[in-house]
Amino acid sequence: MDINLIQAQIEADLSNAGSLQALEELRVKYLGRKGLIAELTSSIPALAVEDRGNFGKEVNALKSRLLSLIHEKEKSLAGDSGKAGNVDVDIGMPGIAAVLGSTHPITGIIDEICTIFSRMGFSVLEGPEVETEYNNFTGLNIPSEHPSRDAFDTFYLENYPKLLLRSHTSPVQVRAMKAHKPPLAVVVPGRVYRPDAVDASHLFMFHQVEGFLVDENIRFSDLKGTLEFFVKSVFSSDIKMRFRPHFFPFTEPSAEVDISCLICKGKGCSACGKKGWLEILGAGMIHPNVFKQVGYDQKKYTGFAFGMGIERIAMLKYGINDIRLFFENDLRFLKQF
Ligand code: PHE
Repeated sequence: MDINLIQAQIEADLSNAGSLQALEELRVKYLGRKGLIAELTSSIPALAVEDRGNFGKEVNALKSRLLSLIHEKEKSLAGDSGKAGNVDVDIGMPGIAAVLGSTHPITGIIDEICTIFSRMGFSVLEGPEVETEYNNFTGLNIPSEHPSRDAFDTFYLENYPKLLLRSHTSPVQVRAMKAHKPPLAVVVPGRVYRPDAVDASHLFMFHQVEGFLVDENIRFSDLKGTLEFFVKSVFSSDIKMRFRPHFFPFTEPSAEVDISCLICKGKGCSACGKKGWLEILGAGMIHPNVFKQVGYDQKKYTGFAFGMGIERIAMLKYGINDIRLFFENDLRFLKQF
């Protein structure tokens, strides 16, 4: 039996041992009661007398070499797992997924509305939330002391009597028309503010999307066709739309636009107050006095404008019954979008 060969085999086995458990198995295999060393020792009496002494020494040397190798390996394996904090790491275990947010429902509806109008050639513009009294009112044909100012109840800035939080997105009409010549087709998403008492359908802040188009020969039927395409895109193609006469100082004629109730399809239910119709926006042909304010030729140009409340559209679309839900940051609500 070649002791050197055996030793080479043992050294290879030990260096391959990857864990304390594997090392223990090798220890039993070589040093155990029925292990290799015991086997070699018990084979000595069968040897020729003159060979016994030499072989016995070799086996002893092998045994002590084995003991010291096992001891070293034990130290290095214990040191390795010590570095990992003695924690068992299961590399096959699934990872912990990062929590991803999603688009806020109001942002989602604004994006959807802007996309629909972009397809019709409208540009998207924004304006400031702190506005001048002129842009919010005077430029829109709502002079000081005009009673219709009450309808756009307003937060004024303390110490800045001519500045306010815009009560609608219509002041961006004035800004855009003063900055650009017709033809002009623009949609304007943004926040607006009104000092309303908060309840399930009112907040002091909400979102609107304004739209307007100015060119030669723009007619009321253009307004109607544009809005019809819009409501069918946002809601569904079987939706009906109607115009009710209304008054806005900055449009003439003006209308409020209703869609057939999304829930009862026009038959009348509690969501539409038995009317079968839901109001979704205000619209009309831009008043000549607005063109005068922005310096457009009133004889040459005509145009239409409309404005809608986004929370209301989101509530109708998703069947949400309390506007406050949008702004409470309750993840149980927001995760649904
Ligand atoms: N600015 C109006 C409002 O806030 C809506 C509107 C916009 C009406 C444009 C007509 C034309 O109620």
